[in-house]
Amino acid sequence: MIDAAIDRQSAAAIVFGGSRGIGAAIAQQLADDGFAVALTYLGNADKAEAVSNSIRTGGGRAIAVRADSRDPAEVRHAVEAASRELGPLDVVVVNAGALRIAPLRTFPREDFDLLVDINIRGVFLAIQASMQVLRDGGRIITIGSNGAVRAGSPEGGVYAMTKAAVASLVQSLALELAPRGITVNNVQPGPIETDMTAGMIAGLVNRIPLRRIGKPCEIAALVSYLASSDAGYMTGANLTIDGGMVL
Ligand SMILES: NC(=O)c1ccc[n+]([C@@H]2O[C@H](COP(=O)([O-])OP(=O)(O)OC[C@H]3O[C@@H](n4cnc5c(N)ncnc54)[C@H](OP(=O)(O)O)[C@@H]3O)[C@@H](O)[C@H]2O)c1
Repeated sequence: MIDAAIDRQSAAAIVFGGSRGIGAAIAQQLADDGFAVALTYLGNADKAEAVSNSIRTGGGRAIAVRADSRDPAEVRHAVEAASRELGPLDVVVVNAGALRIAPLRTFPREDFDLLVDINIRGVFLAIQASMQVLRDGGRIITIGSNGAVRAGSPEGGVYAMTKAAVASLVQSLALELAPRGITVNNVQPGPIETDMTAGMIAGLVNRIPLRRIGKPCEIAALVSYLASSDAGYMTGANLTIDGGMVL
């Protein structure tokens, strides 16, 4: 049996898509927990640097690396940079994602390709590159969506399909990595206040039983738990956190 205890004070994490929104909150939370953190971004270098600077100012260790989740070489480079600068990885968080909504009848094919490329292929690439350097007893945490288990709107089908693919992937990956003591779990948020949902919030609140939008720090808190030694017996789980919307 591999001991799943993680010593946070000497541990390292990578957050794919950590420059804004949920990913930035996760990067900050993991740093507050004691992890050295590498975070990737696509185009927002300033925001990524702001997150890593804030972690360093607070006494933590952090680096920001540009890596398009769709590009295997860039993803590999980010993982290599993270393990070179921060040491072997203990926690991998695959958060980078994109949202496009439209009825299927008119859904642009380029948007379909973009969602599949980032939300499915990007998750696969990030996990495949990271698992080579992930320590035994480590953690893989993906950020899916409650859309995987609940049709929230008639326009969200393609996005939901990509997130359902992730929900499925974590289950077989959990089995594959169990012999190494690595846990694999998927967090499925409902509406969270970020750039991704800007302009959509007002129409959503009435459909959420708790009558409010979630905060990025609430997703980060669940990720923090999953990254902890206390969560060592949880694997292959799809955890929905959405104010009761899925009920
Ligand atoms: N917000 C919600 O209500 C909600 C609900 C359910 C699930 N989610 C999921 O939660 C995750 C984060 O969502 P969010 O609302 O925080 O999104 P967001 O505010 O739009 O931030 C997206 C993050 O992903 C990065 N990213 C996007 N495309 C990328 C690519 N091709 N390569 C590398 N990085 C890329 C962005 O980097 P740049 O800053 O460089 O662009 C940014 O750091 C996503 O997977 C999303 O599907 C969100």
